[in-house]
Amino acid sequence: MDHRQSLFVTILIVLLTLMVSNSSMAVGDSALTGGWEPITNVTDPTVLDIGKFAVDEHNKQHKESLKFTKVVSGKSQVVAGRNYNLTITATDGGVENNYVAIVWDKPWENFRQLLSFKGPI
Ligand SMILES: *[C@@H]1O[C@H](CO)[C@@H](O)[C@H](O)[C@H]1NC(C)=O
Ligand SMILES: *[C@@H]1O[C@H](CO)[C@@H](O)[C@H](O)[C@H]1NC(C)=O
Repeated sequence: MDHRQSLFVTILIVLLTLMVSNSSMAVGDSALTGGWEPITNVTDPTVLDIGKFAVDEHNKQHKESLKFTKVVSGKSQVVAGRNYNLTITATDGGVENNYVAIVWDKPWENFRQLLSFKGPI
């Protein structure tokens, strides 16, 4: 390689490196996505809040009147914010059932969305 060729190769490598690091910044959200971690304390105020939110939101969307009882178990995942996958006990006309709710929470934006509510399971 002569001098110009090696300069060209160097510039190419620098550009490629920049492109790679830029694209990983562009998908920063998914790069920050973690695995599902078990929720160890189901009476944690935030976890309870998410559970109640899921039941309230489900009631609003489906004109039902489930009553939140407790969070049975759950796991959460870091996304842009945090996803919660909670197994929730709620009563439906006095009958206790379990439901699985997925809630997306971005506390600093005051944003919370029920992504899925399934049950009774
Ligand atoms: C779970 O969280 C609640 C509320 O913050 C607290 O009172 C309780 O001691 C915690 N339990 C454990 C096992 O950490
Ligand atoms: C949520 O957790 C339940 C129970 O562990 C599991 O069956 C379900 O597949 C999970 N859902 C998602 C979207 O991870």
